[in-house]
Amino acid sequence: MTITGAARLAGVMGWPVSHSRSPVLHNFWLREYGIDGVYMPLAVAPEAFERALGALPLIGFAGVNVTVPHKEAAFAAVDDADRLAQRIGAVNTIVFDDDGRSHGSNTDAFGFIESLRTKAPGWSGAAGPAVVLGAGGAARAIIAALQDEGAPEIRIVNRTRERAQRLVEEFGSPLTDVAWQARADALDGAALVVNTTTLGMTGNPPLDLSLDSLPRDAVVNDIVYVPLMTPLLTAAASRGNPTVDGLEMLLHQARPGFARWFGTEPEVTDRLRAAVRGD
Ligand code: ATR
Repeated sequence: MTITGAARLAGVMGWPVSHSRSPVLHNFWLREYGIDGVYMPLAVAPEAFERALGALPLIGFAGVNVTVPHKEAAFAAVDDADRLAQRIGAVNTIVFDDDGRSHGSNTDAFGFIESLRTKAPGWSGAAGPAVVLGAGGAARAIIAALQDEGAPEIRIVNRTRERAQRLVEEFGSPLTDVAWQARADALDGAALVVNTTTLGMTGNPPLDLSLDSLPRDAVVNDIVYVPLMTPLLTAAASRGNPTVDGLEMLLHQARPGFARWFGTEPEVTDRLRAAVRGD
């Protein structure tokens, strides 16, 4: 597809941004649908974030994604943020309107739920308690999603317990917090376990978690996607639990932004998975 002078522009702001898979993913869709558009990596230092964001509508951007470490700054900087982004306290997708005003949303919760619907169709929020390992930004989006899906109980397990306790206070029912040392027991009767910590990521130690108490039909989801098969997912698969890898959430969270900026609802296909995986 030729990029003409009328091309639609979008991108991802991060620091660093070179590791981001979003350019490969969005440019795959642009080619796939024959859209005259470009999606660029935008390396923006934290101190320059607001100025860079303000410049984008002036140079014709339709919108941007925002990734680490800018998601909270984006929430503070946009002209308005939707209800879900307000609950999560972070924005990952921004649309500029014709007047240059910025509208922020958070599509991580959507991406998480869609990844489960696609890869673990037997799961529903009401199926039973969910266990969330970690209490950072990714956990916040997943907790909001699980609340909206009607999970009967959401057990937050974090190394720094105060962070888990703060989430319980902030999000309310049905959250409970569990000590990090008791993480294996927290799996008892669970229908879903999600790792949102950085454990298991290339360069980090694996997540040390015995799955002995976990029901064999519980879904195990790791949002780490480098590597795709983390030690947690390997252990879960070997005892027969359904597993969902972190690439799936990444692919699905990208859909709403693409649809808004480029006017086409994109699909997550095996060819897309292969293209992003191969990157
Ligand atoms: P993000 O916003 O991407 O979710 P984050 O806020 O840095 O990232 O959160 C990382 C999560 O991984 C936290 O829950 C962190 O636990 P702490 O709150 O105790 O820091 C967790 N984490 C990172 N390294 C860990 C380790 N070695 N053991 C246990 N948890 C770890």
